[in-house]
Amino acid sequence: MTTSQSTVPTDLQILFDPIEVGGVTLPNRIVMTGHGTGMADHHLPSEQHAAYYRERARGGVGLIGMAFPQIHPSSQNVPGEVQAYDPAVIPGLRKIADAVHRYETKIVMQLGHTGRQSSSTWSERALFAPSSIPCPMNREMPKAMEIEDIDELVAAHALAAVHAREGGFDGVEIHSGYGGYLLASFLSPFSNFREDEYGGSVENRVRFARRALEAVRDAVGRDYLVGMNMQGHDFSPGGLEVEDAQEIAALLTGTGPLDYVVVKGATYYSASQNVPDMQHPKGVWLDLAAKLREVVDVPVIAVGRVTDPYAAAQVLRDGGADLIAMTRQHIADPETVTKIRENRLEDVRGCIACNQGCIDRLFKITHTTCVHNPAAGYELELGEGTLTPAPADGGRVVVVGGGPAGMKAAEVCARRGFDTVLLERRERLGGQLRLASSIEGREEIAEVIRHLEVQLDKLGVEVRTGAGADPEAVRALAPDHVIVATGSAPGRRIVGNISNGV
Ligand SMILES: Cc1cc2nc3c(=O)[nH]c(=O)nc-3n(C[C@H](O)[C@H](O)[C@H](O)COP(=O)(O)O)c2cc1C
Ligand code: SF4
Repeated sequence: MTTSQSTVPTDLQILFDPIEVGGVTLPNRIVMTGHGTGMADHHLPSEQHAAYYRERARGGVGLIGMAFPQIHPSSQNVPGEVQAYDPAVIPGLRKIADAVHRYETKIVMQLGHTGRQSSSTWSERALFAPSSIPCPMNREMPKAMEIEDIDELVAAHALAAVHAREGGFDGVEIHSGYGGYLLASFLSPFSNFREDEYGGSVENRVRFARRALEAVRDAVGRDYLVGMNMQGHDFSPGGLEVEDAQEIAALLTGTGPLDYVVVKGATYYSASQNVPDMQHPKGVWLDLAAKLREVVDVPVIAVGRVTDPYAAAQVLRDGGADLIAMTRQHIADPETVTKIRENRLEDVRGCIACNQGCIDRLFKITHTTCVHNPAAGYELELGEGTLTPAPADGGRVVVVGGGPAGMKAAEVCARRGFDTVLLERRERLGGQLRLASSIEGREEIAEVIRHLEVQLDKLGVEVRTGAGADPEAVRALAPDHVIVATGSAPGRRIVGNISNGV
């Protein structure tokens, strides 16, 4: 046991038990599941990609899923995601894998196809689906796949997997989740109304996913990690219930070539739950993972609003899963695992499940960030090692305004080595976030304030609340630099007709 491991609270030790999955040893049980980042540069893996994943590997997470590489031109072909079917991606994938492998972390690449839950705006091709029924959200009529289309997409899974392997990734994860994405849309009677050998009975609905899995396995060999992202429930009318998901999971894992499963829920019918925000309960899909674990004999990764390491450890102790995902938690704080290991839980910057900086931005076709981790998505400029120390005589910074921006500015100045004073007119720090967090269902917003308060305290920032910042008060502090972070004031309502000059 290393010295740092010895600081792990006993109740959390289980999170740090290594586990072998498909011949690959993971250093701990914490996973950052695949999430699109929008960080590709014209469909190719970018330097920013590598920096993003390197920072999370450095922070100690056991397994990283990279999403959302597209396996075929008919999938959602936005420039910010990787076209995994193009061999040109291999050198960039290798840079990512090398960056991650500087640490003990392992990385798998998701093999994705958005199916009908997409738009042809980018692909300029027909959307693929089991039946000609539009996705309830995007509402574009898809093409019911012909057998030749299915054959082509089976082969596409295998080709993308070979590229991942050649790119140095530790494995691949077949995407059969999110209800309406391609393979999952075949699995579910919510979207599959076919009458041929790919529709109807569960054996028929599983056929496409099974063929894809077998093709991937044949292409990469038995000694390569192959997982699958699975539905535990569709939460959609006529869709999969947990018992159906169990049957499918047993069928797919029973064939042998699968090494692990990740269990999630929802379709674009129940879209708010795809990436469950703070309105959803914590641990929202954990019971689904536990149910699927009853019927499969491969490691199960449970997902869904887990940020508390004690809750994560409890899931493992209860036998609800073999590994536990803390995905957005790692967008918010790439060092989560290190901080848990060092028993510095108060320093963990908890994800508040607002979705504002991460998934919402993906839907606006830009890259992911985080509302309270400014370095997320900007690791090259703001990530680990980029902070410039203050000059030796850096002097004093006075920050005016103790809302989140002022608090963060004060934190950064103090980290750089400036003597930092923060002035806030009100009696408490937090600004508008305090108001926002007072609304029922929005309490988690207060985590942003808590985290910043802890950091200011640890860094020795002099915080003066109830302190106005008129020019005399600021001058009296003899600042070398002043940062004004007083936010904005609501505009005055314009009454009357401006053109009349009223
Ligand atoms: C920005 C973003 C993009 C995502 N993209 C994908 C994706 O491409 N494939 C996937 O399987 N899940 C995707 N997810 C879902 C996550 O893998 C995970 O299931 C979800 O964030 C819930 O886990 P958490 O509560 O631990 O964050 C995405 C999530 C986010 C926040
Ligand atoms: S933007 Fe919000 S939901 Fe996304 S990682 Fe940051 S805190 Fe979590």
